[in-house]
Amino acid sequence: MLPSIIVVLMLIPLTCGENPAIQVILTNKGLQYGKHVGAGWIQDKLELVTLPDISGEIHISIFGSIDYTLTGITITKCDFPEPSVEFYQDVTGFKTSISGLSVALTGGWITHLGVIHDRGSFNMAIFSVDVTSVVTLGKDPDGHLSVTSVSCDAHIGDVDIQFHGGASWIFQPFVKHFKGYIRSEIEHRVCPDVEESIVMLEGYLQAMKVSFDVDQDLTLDLPLTGLPVIDASNLNLGFKGEFYSIKTHTDPPFESQPFTVPEQSGYMLSVGLSEFTLNSASYGYYSAGLFQALINDSMIPPGSHLHLNTSAMGPFIPQLPKMYPGLLMNLQVYAREVPLFSFQPGAVKLGFQGAVKAFAIQPNGTQTPLFKLNVDSKFSGKVWIAGGRLKGSVTMNNFTLMLVSSEVGTFQTDAMESIARIGARVVLAKLNEKLGKGVVLPRMKQAQLVNTVLEVEEGFIAISSDAQVLLPDRDFN
Ligand SMILES: *[C@@H]1O[C@H](CO)[C@@H](O)[C@H](O)[C@H]1NC(C)=O
Ligand SMILES: *[C@@H]1O[C@H](CO)[C@@H](O)[C@H](O)[C@H]1NC(C)=O
Ligand SMILES: *[C@@H]1O[C@H](CO)[C@@H](O)[C@H](O)[C@H]1NC(C)=O
Ligand SMILES: *[C@@H]1O[C@H](CO)[C@@H](O)[C@H](O)[C@H]1NC(C)=O
Repeated sequence: MLPSIIVVLMLIPLTCGENPAIQVILTNKGLQYGKHVGAGWIQDKLELVTLPDISGEIHISIFGSIDYTLTGITITKCDFPEPSVEFYQDVTGFKTSISGLSVALTGGWITHLGVIHDRGSFNMAIFSVDVTSVVTLGKDPDGHLSVTSVSCDAHIGDVDIQFHGGASWIFQPFVKHFKGYIRSEIEHRVCPDVEESIVMLEGYLQAMKVSFDVDQDLTLDLPLTGLPVIDASNLNLGFKGEFYSIKTHTDPPFESQPFTVPEQSGYMLSVGLSEFTLNSASYGYYSAGLFQALINDSMIPPGSHLHLNTSAMGPFIPQLPKMYPGLLMNLQVYAREVPLFSFQPGAVKLGFQGAVKAFAIQPNGTQTPLFKLNVDSKFSGKVWIAGGRLKGSVTMNNFTLMLVSSEVGTFQTDAMESIARIGARVVLAKLNEKLGKGVVLPRMKQAQLVNTVLEVEEGFIAISSDAQVLLPDRDFN
């Protein structure tokens, strides 16, 4: 009994799956905009399409049967009504339909009657084409989004053909007898073409990366954590959103918590970014030993009154200049714990627990340890989006220095703490100047975000935005 309970308990974390740390929600507004852009794109592409040849037979009593081929068929004009697309919950996918499409085509005809060959040109009109395609969305084992055709129906209302040249006057009167065959030939090709383009799209999705190196130290894993979720008005994709240290690739000792991005149907898309994502980056740097720095005197601005020189430390540690006069010092600064962010309504908080080890550099290069301080600080910040830029501001809420150990005897840290606090405020002021100017929102070659808003919520940041596709020579508004 007990072993089986243990097995079940061990399986729970696996079967529950992990909570997505990044969620992307496509609203109906976004879907309709995407469709509008896609329809324009398809119409442009259709006019460049060459259709495969169509061959058949015409039976004319006095001649018997004439073999014909319609070749070099190109679309000259396409009356492309706005298609409809909707979230389709039954199959977790989309249903796309177009109805009343008309196409004008042109091409050449060739006939064979025994050894007699004849040729000419033709114009064709295809009327009232209706196509309905249903696709389902899924997730492959590697976490790619997948798309599969579930059904496709195509119907062509009517076809009209005008033959020109050669002996076309002979068979033009018989068009009404064989156009049904041509209509069904074309009708049968529509769905295989639709399905082929869905397979191509699936190929693109499979080829997409689910892991990205952000710099030389961190990689971001972005596979889907579960199946896409679709309701009548949204598509929700959940991504892992975890940063790893490239060096250690270990999971942080904390987990992504579930969160619900508020519905924002007025925007095309919403993105929820949990504090887990930011903290996994922090853990990645920490586990790779990157939250540490060595500060020496050459890094102190030349104009500064304070120098990393034992002789200048008298005001803070009176005994130091007497014990080690005139020596330069090094400071080893590092994080004692993973610096963790917490998102709270309207604010981002960061706790930093660090330590400083001070050394005196002997003339022979030996570093003599002097003392160790703990530095604990808390920051809170705001982030917002204005004028297409992500901006922010940070304030320091708490800053304390505590002497942990000393090789030079005990000393009061108050004076040092005040100086360090002033130093930290100077650094923050510079940082705030940069944050106030902000950084431009990421922008791709073909699309940019517009009307973007950002809210910090409990445990996550919610970004809602419209998108604008940038295609030359086309106005989609
Ligand atoms: C201080 O550190 C920098 C960078 O590590 C180094 O280039 C420089 O020589 C060091 N200066 C002293 C005085 O040790
Ligand atoms: C440290 O400061 C003292 C007093 O200002 C100076 O005499 C000494 O040269 C300095 N040491 C170094 C290595 O610069
Ligand atoms: C370097 O100098 C210090 C202080 O004079 C001394 O204690 C230490 O043994 C010396 N180290 C070496 C490697 O010479
Ligand atoms: C600052 O930190 C100290 C030590 O951790 C604590 O006693 C104090 O209450 C904190 N002050 C604020 C404003 O958080």
